[in-house]
Amino acid sequence: GKIILGDQILERSDVNIDLEDRGYQFGDGVYEVIRVYGGELFTIKEHIERLFQSAKKIKLDVSMSSEQIRGLTEELVKENGVDFGSVYMQVTRGAAPRAHMFPKPESSTKAVFTAYTNEVPRPASLLEKGVEAITTEDIRWLRCDIKSLNLLPNVLAKQEAADSDCFEAILHRNGIVTEGSSSNAYIVKNGEVITHPANNLILNGITRQVLAELCKENGIPFIEKEFELIDLQNADEVFITSTVSEVMPVIKVNGETVANGKPGNITCKLQGLFEARIN
Ligand code: PDD
Repeated sequence: GKIILGDQILERSDVNIDLEDRGYQFGDGVYEVIRVYGGELFTIKEHIERLFQSAKKIKLDVSMSSEQIRGLTEELVKENGVDFGSVYMQVTRGAAPRAHMFPKPESSTKAVFTAYTNEVPRPASLLEKGVEAITTEDIRWLRCDIKSLNLLPNVLAKQEAADSDCFEAILHRNGIVTEGSSSNAYIVKNGEVITHPANNLILNGITRQVLAELCKENGIPFIEKEFELIDLQNADEVFITSTVSEVMPVIKVNGETVANGKPGNITCKLQGLFEARIN
């Protein structure tokens, strides 16, 4: 299929990324994953806005406009004929002789923007049955609000989950649950949806923001406050959200069933509301 490199749509095989691209060597860049439902990019505006926010937080000049990125991305999805799938996009600080400090402004180094598409069906059976999770220590840095290319702690946590045949690793700092390795995490207790505040310790997911809206519109309390591993164990319901996983019930944590081991009522209600939003 086709891809985007800078302001051009090209064949994937025509791309050359420099060995000294700072994304490759330092993880010096930011990214987004956007869902495609029936050929339409879901919440593309919010994702591109967050890409620019992440870039700004690492003092990276994207050197393209959001309108340009949006236009190119829509064209790419059309050209590749993506029906249900996703777009991965990233921007790095570009290629320069390897040195930790930023390339000098007068050097010819320019940000490198790339994007490509994937065909991915919605995870229908997992959404219905729910998934299992483990918990593990959150060993990431203190700027998890930035959607940075540096994902080694996330990769290690997800692999730990995979090694236990689990779908996700739910992270905690000193017993306080932050989020999943690639998702936001929630408990439901006494009819309230509870999730970690959107500060520097989590990524404020676009799906999380849609969920907050859905809760508000439907009179479901959406409470942003810290909760602990013990609350996860004692929750009425547990679920995670992400662009790829949508609203995903968690029915077992560390091998222990959550409540009766079935996706909870509020989780299912939120799934229905989310489904209505994407259609
Ligand atoms: N991950 N928290 C982390 C650490 C994430 O990596 C993600 C998304 C989320 C959920 O954000 P959103 O709802 O905007 O997708 C929360 C993407 C999908 C990924 O890395 O593949």
